[in-house]
This record gives sequence, structure tokens and C-alpha cells, in this order.
Amino acid sequence: MSFQPRDWRIHPPHLYEGYRSTVLRAPSQPLVPLTGALSEHQGPAFTAAPREEADLTRNGRVNGEPLGERIIVTGRVLDEDARPVAGTLVELWQANAAGRYIHKADQHDAPLDPNFLGAGRCVTDAEGRYRFLTIKPGAYPWRNHPNAWRPQHIHFSLFGPAFATRLVTQMYFPGDPLHGLDPMFNSVPDPAARERLIARFSLDITEPEVALGYEFDIVLRGRLATPMEG
Ligand SMILES: [Fe+2]
Repeated sequence: MSFQPRDWRIHPPHLYEGYRSTVLRAPSQPLVPLTGALSEHQGPAFTAAPREEADLTRNGRVNGEPLGERIIVTGRVLDEDARPVAGTLVELWQANAAGRYIHKADQHDAPLDPNFLGAGRCVTDAEGRYRFLTIKPGAYPWRNHPNAWRPQHIHFSLFGPAFATRLVTQMYFPGDPLHGLDPMFNSVPDPAARERLIARFSLDITEPEVALGYEFDIVLRGRLATPMEG
């Protein structure tokens, strides 16, 4: 297996001044390529995940339904030639409808939802498709700069065939007024690549009386790659 170097016209740089924590964590020395290590080329093979793990409206229930707007998030994982990538583990994590994560580092003064875990996973089918039922996440403040708010977003991880191929990105929602103000979103240098981080509303995916539908295809490589985090 050979790994292609990142196209930095598409992906956000390790260091982006406006995104404050990158100043501390970005490497200050040139990167050392790791090649040939067996551990880089191996990983678990995924066949399927239990269906309920893709339903975030159920997988964290304690005594009722989670609060907020139900949404379906689905799409395909594709390679650089638009071929489907089957059997890849897709994990997602997100804030609840009030903009709060279940995490001790998240002390935002917004309510936790006892019936919402905010994490799920599934494995892509033969067409490369994944599908989640979840709750639309709320925007939340993050103290990066005065009055800083993250747009509504969902974090995605794609595992790939080996540990070295794991990719992480974020999906945003159409029409969010916070996009233009968000340093994470704007750290993607190419405006067209930035647009690829925004899901598309779809009435075809929307289920009557159940949930609005959003489509988010994830392209792993090439000219139309989805921007990935470092
Ligand atoms: Fe987040």
C-alpha cells in the first residue's frame, strides 16, 4: 500500500493562526515520513455494526426520547474515481440539540440530554453508503476569540483499511450564518473545498412525519477530496 501526500490546497494546514489551539499543537519541525512499518499498513476488517448504533435517537435512551429536531444523515464514501468504498467504519460524534457534549471538558452552560449520547457508528454497504438517524446539533461557544461560536456540525471519522488511513472531518449544515465566522471552517484554503463540507438538504431522503434528510458524500482522495483534519 502506498500513501499519497496531502494536497494542501484542499486540506487545512496544521497551523492556522485564527484557530488558536493549532498554534500550540502544530508541529514546529518538518514532518518525518513513516513508511514501511507493518502497523501502518494493518488494521481491523469491518463487516457490520449493530443497526442500533447508527440510530442516535435510540442508542442513548434512558427514560425517553432525546430532545431536538430529528434528522437523517446519509451519503456515500467514495475514492478519487467516485468508486464506492465498501466496508469502512464510519463513526460520528456531536453535540446535543442544546449545543452540549457529554464530556468533562465541555462545561458550556447548556443542558445535557439524559437520553442522548451523541455518538454512533456504522459500516458502509456495497455502494459505500452510510446512514444515521440523529438529532440536529446546536451551535456552541468555544472561547477561541471573543464571542466565538461553532456552527452546527457533526464530526466524522472514517477508518479505512489500516490504522494510518483513518481520516477525520466535520459536516456542516446549509445556510448557517456562522460559517463565514468560523476559523475551523475557514482554515480550509479552497472555497470550493469548503463547500464540500456542507451537507445538502434532500427532500428525497426526508421521511414524512419522521425526520429531515441531509446528504453528505465523503471523498477520500483526489481533486474533489473532502477536506480532512490533521
Ligand atoms: Fe464539535
